[in-house]
Amino acid sequence: MLSLWEDTTKMPAFKNLGKDIKTDVLVIGGGMAGVLCAYMLNQAGVDYTLVEAKNICGGITKNTTAKITAQHGLLYHKLISEFGAEKAKQYLDMNLNAVDKFRELCSNINCDFENKDSYVYSLESKDIIDNELAALRKLGYKAEFAGNIPLPFSIAGAVRFKNQAQFSPLKFAAGISKDLNIYENTKVQQLIGTKAVTNGGIINAKRIIVATHFPFLNKHGAYFLKLYQQRSYVIALENAQNVNGMYIDAAEGGFSFRNYKDLLFIGGGEHRTGKKSSAWHELREFARMNYPDSEEKYHWATQDCMTLDSAPYIGEYSGSSNGVYVATGFNKWGMTSSMAAAQILCDMITGRKKYSNNVFSPSRTIFRPQLVVNAFEAVINLVNFKPKRCPHLGCALKWNPYEHSWDCPCHGSRFTADGKLIDNPATDDLKN
Ligand code: FES
Repeated sequence: MLSLWEDTTKMPAFKNLGKDIKTDVLVIGGGMAGVLCAYMLNQAGVDYTLVEAKNICGGITKNTTAKITAQHGLLYHKLISEFGAEKAKQYLDMNLNAVDKFRELCSNINCDFENKDSYVYSLESKDIIDNELAALRKLGYKAEFAGNIPLPFSIAGAVRFKNQAQFSPLKFAAGISKDLNIYENTKVQQLIGTKAVTNGGIINAKRIIVATHFPFLNKHGAYFLKLYQQRSYVIALENAQNVNGMYIDAAEGGFSFRNYKDLLFIGGGEHRTGKKSSAWHELREFARMNYPDSEEKYHWATQDCMTLDSAPYIGEYSGSSNGVYVATGFNKWGMTSSMAAAQILCDMITGRKKYSNNVFSPSRTIFRPQLVVNAFEAVINLVNFKPKRCPHLGCALKWNPYEHSWDCPCHGSRFTADGKLIDNPATDDLKN
């Protein structure tokens, strides 16, 4: 089950670490966020090294639908009510800047970059669309109302962000990473302060950025309480429709749409990892009803780290881990969030900007309703007597019949049928 991006992109290869080294900034994790951090540090003239346990962008990045937009669902009215207008504006501005930065970088990289409008639609409620438009007006951003969109169903309304973008994430990553200081197949086994013990040698760093999708240091920051993971599914159809934009349903469990060349991507079916799902079934049913002449060319699944309050965690890892930074919890919006993370962390490390009292601060309050859900899942899966246990923190694993994997409902680690690690935060294969 290769994603379209994996199947159509040849990524550059990088050597393994084979000796002890020193570096000013060690970036751990070579997904989109880690690669962009390395790129920004390189541009700023900082001595840096990136290490990736397997191959760069071979984890979540290869499975994204790669929408480059500051429109992250109907988010802004929620951010204003939870964080206040000032912080909601910080979020908006960082993500609008991220769209512009991608546009600038992509002008020199052959990555099928296209400017497209993005839309969040509601099937039932014009009120929630109007509320979001009002929230955006309050933040000084001119979004537009759309009463019709070129999808095969009618809507109550949509919020339109003009001039956002889409691209091929692996073609972009291949282009931007090729001259960076990267070691692949170099797994960090232990962190002692800012010293990293890897399978290829010891790295003495002054600062560390943890960009490993789900942060792997459990002792600090309580990320095992602050994050959970969701799976969602994509099909790519030939002979379906050119929808000329990026679309997502405001409702939980709704679908998303975009084209890549002559294919139409339909995404959806989200659920907490380790919970029951119908995987690609609903998407295929929708395609059968609405695009009866289409043919499915690809299908794949992705996994996202979800925070307690819809904003990522970007900044100092915790109050007790000096010199360690983190970028995680992109809540399904990994492209602009990765770029925002790279810009923020590079600014913090070079001292260009401080970002105190920021919407992305990892040390903000954790007292949100989702905390109770996360704690409940942890408790019921820890006391479950099933014998297959997750090596992360010991929860009972659930068999995923669609993807033939053992999935953890607590924090989303996944393993192949014979116990090989697929997705973190676990760092090792199953023992039994
Ligand atoms: Fe944390 Fe399984 S992922 S216990």
